[in-house]
Amino acid sequence: MKLFIDSGNLKEIESLVPLGIIDGITTNPSLLAKEPGDYKQILKKICQIVQGPTSAEVVATDAEGMIREGRELAAIDDHIVVKVPFTREGVKACKALSSEGTRVNVTLIFSPAQALLAAKVGATYVSPFVGRLDDIATSGMNLISEIVEIFENYQFTTEILVASTRGPMHIIEAARMGADICTCPAKVIDALFNHPLTDIGLANFLKDWEKAQSVRA
Ligand code: E4P
Repeated sequence: MKLFIDSGNLKEIESLVPLGIIDGITTNPSLLAKEPGDYKQILKKICQIVQGPTSAEVVATDAEGMIREGRELAAIDDHIVVKVPFTREGVKACKALSSEGTRVNVTLIFSPAQALLAAKVGATYVSPFVGRLDDIATSGMNLISEIVEIFENYQFTTEILVASTRGPMHIIEAARMGADICTCPAKVIDALFNHPLTDIGLANFLKDWEKAQSVRA
């Protein structure tokens, strides 16, 4: 399963990429709005650092505008994936951009029907938002399981990019279900590393080693 960082923050991205576990980046207008500077330059820099798929979202709401913005975003770097919202206009834009060879991530997916329609118009990725569903007392992970089943039934090549992840259990459950990708805020990636028994075990190994060295000295 691939891991993406859900961030537009260069410092976060620069600190996590050297770990060797990061396959791509997702951004959205809310994330990029937090970052000072020109968003196109930020996206270019992100692509240079991660050297993997980097989702950049359109803000137009009509298909024509999304296609125009999508082409501009795709021109920033070969790693850019154009993100469009799941609306009727977004579906039209996805069809047009995919047909001309641009990779499209259809975002704001909250139902299996939406994922199915996005796959039918050639989306490279669909982004179901699990955390926001959990927030309204609906299981986000059930949605992932339904999309996995549907895509397997028809051998869609569209990848399931689990978004709006809030903690390690979203990542573990997504991996068990066979989702292709999880995009995570930096704090969720950090949490994947942590286990108290690892910390205690390492401290004990080092203490025992030190003790033996001092006896031998
Ligand atoms: C990523 O593609 C999404 O925009 C992001 O995961 C949304 O996360 P949030 O629900 O925590 O804002």
